[in-house]
Amino acid sequence: MAIRIVREDGDEILRKKAKEVQEVDDKIREILDDMVDTLHNYNGVGLAGPQIGLLKRLVVIDLYDDKGPMKLVNPVIIKQKGEQEVEEGCLSFPNQFAKIIRPAEVVVEALNENGKKIKIKGSGLLAQALSHELDHLDGILFVDKIIPGTLEYVTPEKNDEEK
Ligand code: NI
Repeated sequence: MAIRIVREDGDEILRKKAKEVQEVDDKIREILDDMVDTLHNYNGVGLAGPQIGLLKRLVVIDLYDDKGPMKLVNPVIIKQKGEQEVEEGCLSFPNQFAKIIRPAEVVVEALNENGKKIKIKGSGLLAQALSHELDHLDGILFVDKIIPGTLEYVTPEKNDEEK
């Protein structure tokens, strides 16, 4: 288990398309564990492979509820419904927040860390997080979807106080 370096705005790997994972083995499980550690270290909600410099279709999400951290391999949105206007940030864009439109509900198919096929139905924050993280796998970033005029920079001091 280890905390990985999070790639930030301007790193071209964030714009690349991640590749499908062929086999969910110990190596992949180790990466997923590191991704969860990294996510928790930054108090984030979600993290995708390219954000730690790996072009693999891997996503972790933690809403800090009873579902615990979710580890997803090769996730795909198979259904989506409605829209929600949400406030959003990204670990690769520290201290930046903006309003964007996300689907209100999504259904995602993926493999779990044991290579078993799973289906996740999410609404609200979970739909937002799934949509955001799956975008990362295709090199799409939240700044591409900002509602004009809503981008805000939050001073780092404020974040330090929360830790
Ligand atoms: Ni992000």
